[in-house]
Parts: sequence; structure tokens; C-alpha cells
Amino acid sequence: MQTRAGSNVVQTKDVMKKVILSLVIIIVLCCVLHPDRFALSYYPYIKYSDIPNELEPSPRAIAVVKESAKPLCLLIPNGLETSLHHPNESVTEYDIKHLARRLNIEEGGAWQPSECVSQHQVAIIIPFRNRTVQLWIFLSYMHPFLQKQMLNYRIFVIEQMKGAFNRAKLFNVGYAEALKIFPYHCFIFHDVDLIPQKLSNMYACTRQPRHMSSSVNTFRYNLPYKELFGGAVAILQKQFELVNGFSNIFYGWGGEDDDFHSRVINRGMTLCRFPPDVARYTMLAHSKELPSENRFMNLKSGRDRFATDGVNTLQYTIMKVVYYPLYTWILVDL
Ligand code: BGC
Repeated sequence: MQTRAGSNVVQTKDVMKKVILSLVIIIVLCCVLHPDRFALSYYPYIKYSDIPNELEPSPRAIAVVKESAKPLCLLIPNGLETSLHHPNESVTEYDIKHLARRLNIEEGGAWQPSECVSQHQVAIIIPFRNRTVQLWIFLSYMHPFLQKQMLNYRIFVIEQMKGAFNRAKLFNVGYAEALKIFPYHCFIFHDVDLIPQKLSNMYACTRQPRHMSSSVNTFRYNLPYKELFGGAVAILQKQFELVNGFSNIFYGWGGEDDDFHSRVINRGMTLCRFPPDVARYTMLAHSKELPSENRFMNLKSGRDRFATDGVNTLQYTIMKVVYYPLYTWILVDL
């Protein structure tokens, strides 16, 4: 017969087992369901030492240099290892006005090095609405950043006039309009609230389309899921054309970047990422958007529309174009 003390020990053991089991279940659920859960990239992280081999210079720049008295700039300038200050979040309109003159920026937010021919000809496309202060912070931080990288670049801000926000279609508009100004070989599609923390994160194109913002503070510098292709991406012009750009039908928040990921994979390309300690970003604070309900449906039918919904079917009306000192502003009715 079991003594009372013995049965107490058995009961305590049972309780302990249940507690431990519950803790394990809670921990597993937290790991699986938490939005910031750790996801290893199954696309290759380029090794730091391999970055120069992976960058794709502009053939046009190489051709231009032959007729120019200037030498080619280095593919990656020296001295980009230095760490950066946190962006100045109290930028004023006054600062913005004077920056262009101080940094010798051409009207419309374009710049290229004067002493050499940059190997990177990059259009940076920012979809925009109602985030003026973030735009000021972005511009005042990014121009000096891009100049240190010795790029030939222009910043395009594509603002949607009305209706539900369509980030992807604004990117397509930016692509089409940028090509009317200059035959850029590399496109960077970039949210206004993302600030790169490392100068070594070259704003240039790699052989494969690159997910640039793979290490963001709000995701605790982890990838929320392996296929994530949002925030900031770099893609060669010829690759963007090949995938027919972004879909035009994603109105509201979410899904359009996942669709773009499928387009790239569907065309036999893969993604690449710089090492997490290079691809680090700070996201400027803002309230969360309401996710669109149609995004899952649009994503599901995406594959059927790759060839018939994109830059080849893009329709929009330009309402205004202004060459501001720090950016080319295009107001558009989608
Ligand atoms: C959305 C993407 C978004 C990602 C990260 C996904 O659920 O579909 O559009 O970029 O979450 O926030």
C-alpha cells in the first residue's frame, strides 16, 4: 500500500510534468506564432568578401569611360566600413533647402561623382503619401550616404493622388518615368521609412535581385519569413523587364512584395542578401496600416497574371512633375 507521503511525491511529480509540458508548448507556440520569429534565409547570404564579385556594374558606364577623360570609380569605394550616426529625426524644411547646395545635388535629386565615372547608374524609387517628415529624414540621410558610395543616382518620389494606396503600381510608374529621364541599369524600390545603418550596404545591383532590408530593427534584425522581399529591393533593369515589373492590382497593405518574389522565382532567378550585419536597417516609427483583405486572393491567382499584369499593361495619369532640389516628384493618378 502507498503511504500518504509516497502519493504526495507522485502527485507533485505529475504536477511538475504538466507544468514543464505546458511551458514547452508555450515556448514552441511563441516561437512559431511570434511575428519576429527567427527564419534563416534559404537564399544565399553573400559573404562579405564576395560582395565585389556579386555586384553588377553598368555596361553603359564602362562604355562611357572609354570616351571620357575620367577614370572609372572603384566598384566599392574605400572606407565604407565606418559606422553611421543615427538619422537626424528633427530635420527641418530649412535643412532640406540648404542640403542640395551644400552637396552639389542637381535639380531633381540627382548626383554623380565629378572625379570619376560611377559604375552604378541607379534610380531610387520611393512610393509616397502623407509622410512628409519621414521623407525629409530620409532625404537628408540618404544623399550623403549615396554620395559616399560614389553612385550615379537620382531619387524619385512617386506620390499617389487618391484612392487606396498601391505601392507596387507606384513602383511601376517610377520605373517607367525614370527610364524617360535616363537609361538606368539598376533600380532600387524603397520604402521611405527605412534607413540603412551600414555604409557597406551598397545601393547598387547584384547579379541576382537582392532583398536589401533583410535585417530590420522592428523584426529584431531577423527575417520574419524566408521569402520576404519587401522594404527595399535592388534589381537590374533587364531583370525587372523580364518579370514584367510588379503587379498593378494590389490596393491597400500587403502581398504585392510576395507576388513580386513569385515573379522573380517564376522567371528562374533567385534572391540574394548581403550578410545580416551589413543589411541592417532602422524603421522610422509610424502607425500600422490595415492589411488588405484581397491580398491572399490576388496572391493565389498571381501566377496566371504575371504576363498580363505589370509594366506591359501599366496605365496612369501624370498630374504633376516637379524637379525639387532633393528629388524628382511625380504626382500620379492611378
Ligand atoms: C505581407 C507583406 C509584408 C510582410 C512583412 C506579409 O504578411 O504580405 O506584404 O511585407 O508581411 O510585413
